[in-house]
Amino acid sequence: MRRVAQILVLAALLLAVLPAQARKKPQKFTHTTVQLPAVTPQIIPVETANTQLILQVDKQGTVRTLHYGAKAGEPDQFLRFRFGGNHNYEDPSAYPAAGGRFNGYDALHVEYADGSQNTELYFVNSDVHAHDDIISTVIHLKDYVTALEVDLVYNAHQAEDVILMHSIIRNAGKAQITLRNYASASLNLVSDDYLLTHFYGGWANEMQVDQELLTHDAKVLESRRGTQTTQDCNPSFLLTLGKSFSETSGEVVAGALAWSGNYRISFQIGQSDRLNIVSGINPFASAYPLAAGAEFETPEMIYTWSCEGAGGASRNLHRWARKYSVWNGGKVNPTLLNSWEGAYFSFTTETLLRMIDDAAAMGLEMFVLDDGWFGLEHPRNNDKAGLGDWEVNTNKIPEGIDYVASYAHSKGLKFGIWIESEMVNPDSNLAREHPDWIVQSPGRQIHESRNQWILDLSNPAVQDFVFGVFDRTVSLSPNIDYIKWDSNRRIMSFGSPYLGAEQDRFFVEYIQGYYNVCRRMREKYPQLIVQCCSAGGSRVDYGSMRWFNEVWPSDNSDAISRTRIQWATSLVYPPCIMAAHVSAVPNHQTGNVTSLKFRFDVASSGRLGMELQPKSLSAEERALADRCISSYKQYRDLVFSGDLYRLASPYDGDFYALMYVSQDKRRAVVFTYCLRYQNRSRGSHVFRLQGLDPSLKYKVTEQNVDRSCWWGNGKSFDADFLSQGGFNPSFSEASSSAVFVLEAE
Ligand code: GLA
Repeated sequence: MRRVAQILVLAALLLAVLPAQARKKPQKFTHTTVQLPAVTPQIIPVETANTQLILQVDKQGTVRTLHYGAKAGEPDQFLRFRFGGNHNYEDPSAYPAAGGRFNGYDALHVEYADGSQNTELYFVNSDVHAHDDIISTVIHLKDYVTALEVDLVYNAHQAEDVILMHSIIRNAGKAQITLRNYASASLNLVSDDYLLTHFYGGWANEMQVDQELLTHDAKVLESRRGTQTTQDCNPSFLLTLGKSFSETSGEVVAGALAWSGNYRISFQIGQSDRLNIVSGINPFASAYPLAAGAEFETPEMIYTWSCEGAGGASRNLHRWARKYSVWNGGKVNPTLLNSWEGAYFSFTTETLLRMIDDAAAMGLEMFVLDDGWFGLEHPRNNDKAGLGDWEVNTNKIPEGIDYVASYAHSKGLKFGIWIESEMVNPDSNLAREHPDWIVQSPGRQIHESRNQWILDLSNPAVQDFVFGVFDRTVSLSPNIDYIKWDSNRRIMSFGSPYLGAEQDRFFVEYIQGYYNVCRRMREKYPQLIVQCCSAGGSRVDYGSMRWFNEVWPSDNSDAISRTRIQWATSLVYPPCIMAAHVSAVPNHQTGNVTSLKFRFDVASSGRLGMELQPKSLSAEERALADRCISSYKQYRDLVFSGDLYRLASPYDGDFYALMYVSQDKRRAVVFTYCLRYQNRSRGSHVFRLQGLDPSLKYKVTEQNVDRSCWWGNGKSFDADFLSQGGFNPSFSEASSSAVFVLEAE
């Protein structure tokens, strides 16, 4: 009896301490056999001029990606296609969702109001419509238990062989859900080997190339920096379907995500050796709430395929980007003199006017006033003060910006000016007036970087302010033609006072806020030339590119370093966006000394500019500068809108070379560089030109020299001769170069 009493007391005690939840009557689970609506098996082909993406719908309504690459004949032949192996384990789903039978890297992971986290998407229907040269296919999917709907959108750009993929996730239910992962796209590829080329780096060292053969399990490219996401890893890659990288042959799939915030791209080779690539916004700290009735549209994942190696894949992307994804892409942007490395923060009106005089005398077309022109109470005389206070520093420029801009115009130059409107120095009026506009987490230190804090673009009031800075700066003078939009730090101490308890929205809405400002900028200023700079190349992505005319790929202006940065950037992004400046020697970032000719020849393969104090050039150097600038103007249309062929990689040997060919193939410009000079017998190199019309003869003229380094200079040759082994300029020292213009006869 005593024992029974003891047990009863113990049970009562236990009930008292156990949380209410644990005492709940266990929920009764019943096994459900769901009857899915019958689906007619079908093939949905997404095609461009030369490529085919095959989506298969089976009778259960599962949608799989079976093929991406060359056209594989009549699409319906794939109707009964099955991969060997066990589908239950690793289905090549077109958009794998966490839950159900799927265990790999998911594209979608949803938490529902009841806490459950399984989603299984089934085919509802699809529609196709065409506009201009783009065929859009939308596949509508639905979870069979909840009211979740997903549209997979494929925009196939016919002529460029580019397919854009993204998803729209819709909460058609009555309660809020949480998107724990919401990728843009999933792509499945089949090959014996997958050679991944991707890009790593750091400040002044962006877009360095890493290559690796993928092994089983997963490889992830990602950023969690919030902004400046392309500094140490770019959201893009090339995938050679084979073991070795080639510029001219073999299958290459190139991909790039159009998103300027945190991203994640996973490559997973499963049990059956197929590769699955899932790409999209990084779900890190971003479990995104989706209200009843709301939808979330993911950013575009851009894909192309080519059987002409990396060169073919890059050219597809370049053609597409010039037409659809760079603001005024392919249009020539002016040559310029930028004040930064020539004057830094130390200038007066007089300094600027003399630089304008020199720029005009050298034949440049624009002067850009960089950092240091603003801040009155907190003058921007170094990087410790002034950001946020965008009034003209009349101690430096008493006559005002309009005076300088008008002077530039009177000399026949355009005028540009620098801003960094997303940032604030603690030492500024703005920081004092609006502490709640600063990215921060309650009670924590707000870490500084370059002595500055970052403004919270998820807050619409901050978006108004940032747009206002842009707007007011342009209004400083009717003669402002160009804005250099800079952004010099990443996000730390992440968090938004504006978002309150909903911090999971921060990283996504920060970037959406940035795009809102960009949209407003373009609605009001469609013709303005705007450069995207972020401590150099920390915002080189297709999400930003659609609003900007060009990028500053790196603060490293050393021509030697630039060969690698520009070569790699061109693998994915079009050369028309690449600003490249001739700067002083020893170079301010590296200390390297190279000839002025070499510096011009490297910068001339992009949008040529200068960034030094022209006064420091000798008369001889000035004469060379005039000559290089004038010859650049003759061929630069090829750099902006020609087809790029990379002939020799700066990673591979002693020589680096590239060429641009006009669309009608009648003109070309060839840039050749000797990076390391080993000895006389190795000083001459045979470059095999590409992209020429085999039926034509071309006259070859070396630029900017009195004595050419090629025996054939000034003569005409068959395209085949130039492409198959006769073009062999010789060099006699390291860091030397030669530029040739080819004209069909
Ligand atoms: C960044 C940019 C540079 C220059 C400085 C000015 O580093 O990348 O080009 O504009 O800011 O502070």
